[in-house]
Amino acid sequence: MQSGERVYLNGEIVPYAEAKISVEDRGFNFADGIYEVVRVAGGAPFRAADHLDRFENGARALEIELPFTREQVSDAILETIRANDIDEGTVYVQLTRGAARRAHAFPEGVRPTLVMLARPYSGLAAAVRESGVGVATLPDLRWGYCEVKTIGLLPNVMAYQRSHDEGSYEAIMIRDGVVTEGSHTSAFCVRREKVFTHPIDNILPGITRKHVIASLRAQGIEVEETAVTMEEFRAADEIFITGTTLTVLGVVRIDGEPVGSGKPGKLTQLAMQLYDRDYDAARAEAQKRRQLGQVSD
Ligand code: PDD
Repeated sequence: MQSGERVYLNGEIVPYAEAKISVEDRGFNFADGIYEVVRVAGGAPFRAADHLDRFENGARALEIELPFTREQVSDAILETIRANDIDEGTVYVQLTRGAARRAHAFPEGVRPTLVMLARPYSGLAAAVRESGVGVATLPDLRWGYCEVKTIGLLPNVMAYQRSHDEGSYEAIMIRDGVVTEGSHTSAFCVRREKVFTHPIDNILPGITRKHVIASLRAQGIEVEETAVTMEEFRAADEIFITGTTLTVLGVVRIDGEPVGSGKPGKLTQLAMQLYDRDYDAARAEAQKRRQLGQVSD
C-alpha cells in the first residue's frame, strides 16, 4: 500500500484508507465475483477492448447485472490510471455481486461492488526474461467454469504456492493427464517448429494467449489449439507461458528436468519479440496521444 494511492470504488476515486467495503460483501463471503488485470502502456490500458469483453462475458456468466455501461467501466479504468499518475503499470478491476446479509441465494436489489487499483509496474526483470524460469506440475483442482475469471482463486493460489515452495516460478496444472494452463498464465509448448496450447475449454481465455497465437500465425508459424498430455509437454522442444503481467516467458525446467536445450527456444523468443513490438507500439501511440491532448488543453 502506498500512502498516496487512490482507489476507484463504485463511481468515486477515494484515498486508499477511505476505500471501505462491507464485511458481508459477497466477494468476501462467497468469492462471488470476477476480476481483470489490465496492463498500462503509456498511461492507457493495453488491449482494453479484450479485457472489457471478458469482463462483460464473466458478469453475464455469473448473472451479475452491471449497473455501469461498458463506456463507464472503460472511463473508470482511465480515471484510476490518471488518479495514480501511472505511465507503465497494471490496473486491477474487481466486480462482486455486492453486499447483502449472508445467504446463498442471489440477493435482490443489491448493487454490485466495483473496485479498481492502479499500480506502477514496468515488467519482469530482463535477466528473468533472458534466462527463463522453472515450473512445477500440480493437479488442476478447479471447478468446471474456468472460462470465467472469478476471484475464487484458491486452487490457483494453492498450486502456485506449492510450486513456489519447491523453488519454481509457476505451477502448471494437469487435468486428466492433460496440461490445462498455469496458475495465473496460459501454457504453450513447441514440438518440431509447431506450437500447441490447450483449447478454450474450461481454461481462461487468456488475452495474451489470443494475441500470441494471432501474431505467431501471422508469421506463418503453425499453432494448434489441442489437448497436450503431460508426457508430450515434458518432451517438448520449448515451453513458454503467457499472461498480462509476465507477458511471454520461457520455461527451461519442468519438475526439475531441463526443457529442450535448457534455454528459452527460438519460437519462445519470437513470441516475446512480437509481444514487445505490440506493447512498445501501443505505449508510443498512447504517449503521443497524451502529448497532443496536453498541447491542445
Ligand atoms: N492472471 N490463466 C489464468 C488462470 C490466469 O489467471 C491468467 C491471468 C491467465 C493469463 O491471462 P491474460 O493473458 O488475459 O492475463 C491465464 C492474472 C494476470 C492474475 O491473476 O494476476
